[in-house]
Amino acid sequence: MSTEFSRGLEGVIAAESALTYIDGQKGILAYVGIPIEELAEHSTFEETAFLLLHRRLPTRAELQKFQEELASQRPLHTHVMNVLKALPHQASPMALLRTAISVLGHFDPTPDDVSSTALREKAIKLISQMATLTAAIGRLRKDQEPIAPDPTLSHSANFLYMLTGKKPDAAAARVFDVALILQADHEFPASTFASLVVASTLSDVYSVISAALGALKGPLHGGASEQVIKMILEIGDPARAEQYIQEKLARHERIMGFGHRVYKTYDPRARILKRYSHQLAQQAHDARLFEIEQIVEKTVIDALGAKGIFPNVDFYSGTVCYYLGIEPALLTPIFAVSRIAGWMAHMIEYLSDNRLFRPTTRYVGPPLGHYIPIDQR
Ligand SMILES: CC(C)(COP(=O)(O)OP(=O)(O)OC[C@H]1O[C@@H](n2cnc3c(N)ncnc32)[C@H](O)[C@@H]1OP(=O)(O)O)[C@@H](O)C(=O)NCCC(=O)NCCS
Repeated sequence: MSTEFSRGLEGVIAAESALTYIDGQKGILAYVGIPIEELAEHSTFEETAFLLLHRRLPTRAELQKFQEELASQRPLHTHVMNVLKALPHQASPMALLRTAISVLGHFDPTPDDVSSTALREKAIKLISQMATLTAAIGRLRKDQEPIAPDPTLSHSANFLYMLTGKKPDAAAARVFDVALILQADHEFPASTFASLVVASTLSDVYSVISAALGALKGPLHGGASEQVIKMILEIGDPARAEQYIQEKLARHERIMGFGHRVYKTYDPRARILKRYSHQLAQQAHDARLFEIEQIVEKTVIDALGAKGIFPNVDFYSGTVCYYLGIEPALLTPIFAVSRIAGWMAHMIEYLSDNRLFRPTTRYVGPPLGHYIPIDQR
């Protein structure tokens, strides 16, 4: 057995997976062999979720059925809504989401069924509910009543409708859909790994997804997107951007939205989102935030590009959502609205050939000794 130690498990292969391929040197990302650029161009979030859950593209009839099943699972259980309403609305949206997912489990008559058939059904429910819960949290934060889902709308259009109360135009719904496609899976980040550690004990899916949400919440993972947009808003003026970043770098602070454990080049998802961010800025006749991003990007790449530090997916997802009228605090929950597809796909895949995760530590404590009675210490 290997006794090699790798801090943060860098480079360690912890499982086999047929879901997502990443080449971090060349900036390639593909789901089940399909390049992310092609999915962003031609697919929908629903189709991409099916692709991940079944490891193949659906037929037209299968996609239709999958969309209908997702739409039918959107309404929130009254008790879950009541719990959400009873919690402090200004609490962290990710903490609220984590609690709500946990509560949802109490109303599942078979929470412990982890057969692949049951998990595919639970995946449909969880994908739908993650969107409804996030929209409800977004509204409660503003003292607004949550809005019931509209089953005639696509997953993305319905989410924007439940959040804002307005049916989005086709272009806005499409941009949001692409953002969801781009974040639907990413191989083995901390949240997916955390979820599979729990899944490997044969625990229930609600515990698994709560673990994933807990990991995603952290600023080194999904929490980065919220920090990025806050930073861009704090800079506020393109004329201040370069100096702001130079000062941060001089203080050896991390610039959120840059760097990645796997990508040592431009994150392909960031490249796509950058295009959309630019488009939205032009449509809004408000290029200020996009201009700030350009300067931040150039300053960081000039300083750290040689070290392999480039924009990651979180860098442009913030402005895309901002231009769509979504507040920064919802960015990480929206990440979960998308990533739930990947988490569930990995759980189904991993449990088809489960082995308990139980690594070991390299012991660096004192040598073997003896217990010292309390009056002799
Ligand atoms: C994502 C992240 C945690 C990956 O970290 P990692 O693989 O553990 O890399 P390390 O923390 O070992 O960093 C390697 C080097 O790059 C530097 N670095 C990495 N990300 C950096 C960033 N965003 N800003 C400035 N420096 C950074 C580190 O300071 C370190 O420098 P050193 O070798 O001189 O000490 C890291 O890049 C980061 O903190 N990014 C900001 C948060 C973020 O955007 N997260 C979302 C990821 S999708």
